[in-house]
Amino acid sequence: MSYCPLAQTAKITNQVILVGSGCAYPNQRLTNTQLGLRVDTNDSWIRSRTGIGARRIIGPGETLTDLSYKAASAAIEMAGWDPQSIDLVLLATSTPDDLFGSAPAVQTKLNANNSVAFDLTAACSGFLFALITASQFLRTGSMRRALVIGADQLSSWVNWDDRRTCVLFGDGAGAVAIEAKETSEKGLIDFELRSDGRRGNYLNLNKTKDFSHLIENSSYQTGSFSPIEMNGQEVYKFAVKEVPAILQTLLRKTNTDPQMLDWLLLHQANQRILNAVADRFKISYEKVLTNLADYGNTSAATIPIMLDEAIRSGRVKPGDLIASSGFGAGLSWGAALFRWHGPN
Ligand code: COA
Repeated sequence: MSYCPLAQTAKITNQVILVGSGCAYPNQRLTNTQLGLRVDTNDSWIRSRTGIGARRIIGPGETLTDLSYKAASAAIEMAGWDPQSIDLVLLATSTPDDLFGSAPAVQTKLNANNSVAFDLTAACSGFLFALITASQFLRTGSMRRALVIGADQLSSWVNWDDRRTCVLFGDGAGAVAIEAKETSEKGLIDFELRSDGRRGNYLNLNKTKDFSHLIENSSYQTGSFSPIEMNGQEVYKFAVKEVPAILQTLLRKTNTDPQMLDWLLLHQANQRILNAVADRFKISYEKVLTNLADYGNTSAATIPIMLDEAIRSGRVKPGDLIASSGFGAGLSWGAALFRWHGPN
């Protein structure tokens, strides 16, 4: 077949629509009061500073790959897809079961054998970065159906004796099914992505610096990581400055008045951050989606878990206009404006 540049150009009119969602979380639930049995903390401090009431923790017999599979299966079922029709399985995670990547294991469980599957790491911004990455394949016409999964198991990487960090995080997985459609209605309307490594030292999960003897005059770096280190106040300041700024840029460039939004869907890190962003745009708190009380910060999973819960509970309806923003380590942050489409 000869190369036809006109046909390639015509495909660029594809729109990206969101047609399915799913989520899954571990069985073990740890309340703030229970956490107080381990570190010097209490329910009232954690709730008032963060909005978090409990978190889910992966226990024996559960894996992040399994949670990702369950979330993705639910999204596929809602979308009504044949798994064989999926072109891409993109897993946003910083905590894969296999450092070489866990997406292929999820792909195999799903029986999505015709897809390419790989991991993407951008910490708590991971889901949003993966959604935008996947959407580029769909927009160009090189792929038609993609599963975007956000999943993390930060419980393995927090210092459970450090009350400043361990109270914040939990485990979970969420997924959305997106597909290309030649239509005038826009699903994913626009986006903005940013990173700033200069402020990267505010939030880290670093490899340890230990070396072991290999042979005479040679050593190797052992493969382990130090627990999460965080400058909470700097991360807080970063979030309340950069999230409104990037949303403002996105809303301006799409000529969207904040009052036109049906929902604000932010990375679930801290209720005070969510409220500060809503205040900045004079958006009523009823339009701010939140489930921090139940799950805490599940990193790359917060946005798709929240979206799925809001869809399944009937709050988010087909056609609803949603402004979403993810932010976290890197530092990284991003925003997307989209309409929930629902199954075709
Ligand atoms: N329970 C009880 N007391 C705690 C505590 C806990 N879990 N954690 C900290 N404290 C204490 C501190 O020791 C300090 O006590 P002191 O005044 O006697 O020294 C006091 O509470 C205030 O600590 P501080 O760190 O100033 O609290 P804060 O108001 O900045 O809130 C965070 C801390 C972590 C909740 C807040 O900085 C935050 O949410 N930052 C963003 C973190 C985040 O979202 N990270 C992920 C981004 S993806």
